[in-house]
Amino acid sequence: MAKYKIKINPKNLPVFDKYWHYQKSVQSPDIDVKFFRKAYKEIFDKHAVLLREDFCGTFKLCCEWVKLRERHEAIGLDLDPEPLAYGKENYYPKLNSKEKDRLVTSEQNVLTAKLKKPSDVTVAVNFSYFIFKERQVLKEYFQNVYDNLGDQGLFLLDIFGGSDIFDLPEEETEFEDENFSYYWDQEDYNPILNHGLFHIHFKRKGEKKRKNVFNYDWRVWSIAEVRDILTEVGFAETRCYWEGTDKDGEGDGEFKPSEKGEAHCESFVAYVAGIKK
Ligand SMILES: C[S@@+](CC[C@H](N)C(=O)[O-])C[C@H]1O[C@@H](n2cnc3c(N)ncnc32)[C@H](O)[C@@H]1O
Repeated sequence: MAKYKIKINPKNLPVFDKYWHYQKSVQSPDIDVKFFRKAYKEIFDKHAVLLREDFCGTFKLCCEWVKLRERHEAIGLDLDPEPLAYGKENYYPKLNSKEKDRLVTSEQNVLTAKLKKPSDVTVAVNFSYFIFKERQVLKEYFQNVYDNLGDQGLFLLDIFGGSDIFDLPEEETEFEDENFSYYWDQEDYNPILNHGLFHIHFKRKGEKKRKNVFNYDWRVWSIAEVRDILTEVGFAETRCYWEGTDKDGEGDGEFKPSEKGEAHCESFVAYVAGIKK
């Protein structure tokens, strides 16, 4: 496995660590795993045990899953050895020995992945499946997930959308305590193909902006398209989990099954579920 070590510069300051900044900016795996556990329990009235995390990158989510409950097991799949090595060096060592025994990662393509035993819940987060731009390829991926899920299996994917997509925004989020800003920058959108080009930039205080640290050339799939394809590959039921709003009209972090989203929604993040019975 490739090595990914945080290097120290001559002034003894940590050199820029893209995965650390990414994790602080866009990931909340400790919250995600609680949502996955609850959704599975509500649907099947029992606990999920094995979680498959597709496009797992540094597999922080897998680590949180095995920490959440004694019986939880996780398998993380990713094509790229670099983020897997980062997780091995930075997150995995923080688990206790029992948690370590219940987590494996595998350098595999999610389109052709084979699991030794079926998963109870499979997840793909941070919109990673948007990399599949053709319907046939997305369907192939969903078929692989379906075939490798157990009889009572749940597939959860996050999804974003809203009218902001047409405005090519660049949004800055300041992390004051951590002395850096995160930028979500949409460079392009093609309304004919629904293809979008997105970038993540970071700027540490007193330094120049580091541009294009992560780049995404995606098809922005709609909730309805994703649900249709899930049905086509065999899922008995699909759901959309839509986020509630707080008193200021902002998302409140509570995702509930719903068949009605708001019109005039500038930007949303939701979850889509495929339920295998
Ligand atoms: C946007 S990152 C997401 C990382 C992580 N899921 C997260 O929550 O932030 C996308 C990841 O998908 C991986 N990837 C892309 N295509 C893949 C494929 N066909 N099979 C497995 N992994 C893939 C990349 O190597 C990358 O680590």
